[in-house]
Amino acid sequence: MERYVNYINGEWVPSESGEFAKNTNPVNGEVLGEVTVSTAEDVDRAVQAAKEAQKKWALVPAPERADVLYEVAYLLKERKEHLAQILTKEMGKVIAEARGEVQEAIDMAFYMAGEGRRLFGETVPSELRDKFAMSVRVPVGIAGLITPWNFPIAIASWKSLPALVAGNAVVWKPASETPFLAAEFVKIYEEAGLPKGLVNLVFGSGSVVGNAIVEHPEIDLVSFTGSNEVGAKINGRAGELLKRTSLEMGGKNAVTVLEDADLDLAADGIVWSAFGTSGQRCTACSRVIVQESVKEALEQKVLEKMKGLKLGDGLDESVDVGPVINRSALEKIHEYVKIGKEEGAKLLAGGEIVTENGLDKGNFYQPTLFTDVKSDMRIGQEEIFGPVVSFIPVKDLDKAIEVNNSVKYGLSSSIFTADVNKVFRAMRDFDTGIVYVNAGTTGAEIHLPFGGTKGTGNGHRDSGVASLDVFTEWRSVYVDYSGKIQRAQIDNY
Ligand code: UN1
Repeated sequence: MERYVNYINGEWVPSESGEFAKNTNPVNGEVLGEVTVSTAEDVDRAVQAAKEAQKKWALVPAPERADVLYEVAYLLKERKEHLAQILTKEMGKVIAEARGEVQEAIDMAFYMAGEGRRLFGETVPSELRDKFAMSVRVPVGIAGLITPWNFPIAIASWKSLPALVAGNAVVWKPASETPFLAAEFVKIYEEAGLPKGLVNLVFGSGSVVGNAIVEHPEIDLVSFTGSNEVGAKINGRAGELLKRTSLEMGGKNAVTVLEDADLDLAADGIVWSAFGTSGQRCTACSRVIVQESVKEALEQKVLEKMKGLKLGDGLDESVDVGPVINRSALEKIHEYVKIGKEEGAKLLAGGEIVTENGLDKGNFYQPTLFTDVKSDMRIGQEEIFGPVVSFIPVKDLDKAIEVNNSVKYGLSSSIFTADVNKVFRAMRDFDTGIVYVNAGTTGAEIHLPFGGTKGTGNGHRDSGVASLDVFTEWRSVYVDYSGKIQRAQIDNY
């Protein structure tokens, strides 16, 4: 049986706890292997290693740091299929999506390697003679990364690569559900020649390892992607400790479909963004805000396309929808379906745990469609994180914008329309961090900022150049070559 252990200071070591947890395949419950269960002491060991390593790394010129990232990119590319297979086995997403996710990490590695020759600051004129003024980015120090299971390598790449190119060291706790892929990613860092101590991997629970990362006085910042509840706790505690946090939390994303839209296109966009990854994306479409006049026509088209979705083992190339991550996720989804029915929403498709064709061994939920949902119902407001979509009929665009913005989250939204004026209104008035036009709510590319407003985040962004703002401090530098002490704001006026 495969056994995965921590990676601390360049060595693969089990936790002294001696405990191991099982890693299972959500498609059939098969045990894939075991993983060490760590303690707060393991986090401390990782921090001590990171501290030493980071001091030296900060002095390595950024283009040289980036050389390691290029190696990481090449290795990720070479192992794309291998990594995708592991991803599908331990997390369940279908293989085409797994390959797409690994591609996101490859893209991020090349992109951040390029940042080694940019890391732009500003040069500005000084208000005084014979004086030079500029700002430079400097590393923050040690970054604690806490990453989720739904995009186990993409999100880890969004955080670790900018952290490293900017000169930080990393202590990383991946989700307990996806330890193997985390270890494979770290092996790539090791083989790429990353000096020891710069990436440290500590497996374990949020309550022990995650908590130790937040509490550790020498971890300077925490970058977290996960649930709203956990993010809020991290934010509170890290706030007290005056620690920087970057939080990416849930979504309750909506596709708006207006009466002039291409309904076939909209139906395709809805099916892909609601049921892809079994609805387990932060960006997944879980609401369809539809203009009343086309509600039934759109429902029919979506229902028709849903019939064609094949459920099963994601390693089978013909499968469209894999399992959800575990039993408790399955139960939570089913609970929401019960709530929806009790609230008076009309169930048009799905609504059951799948038991046929041997799928009962895994965690499969039927793609589910509710209609006549009112925006203030719980299924219209709360994140379900499963293959459940709610149609909310509205009169016009004004109402659609109001409904779109009525949730506590603000990650992604989309509009289908042929009217350019309405497109620009949506671009301005949807209050989410990401807006799509004539596309579903998923599909963010790595070179733009990823994140959201309101309960989705705390103002920071993953990926894109914006992610460097999380992992660097600004230093403003003034060089006076006048040979005098010049008093700013006084001597020149
Ligand atoms: C997530 O679900 O947290 O835009 C990440 C998308 C993907 C990333 C999703 N590129 O759907």
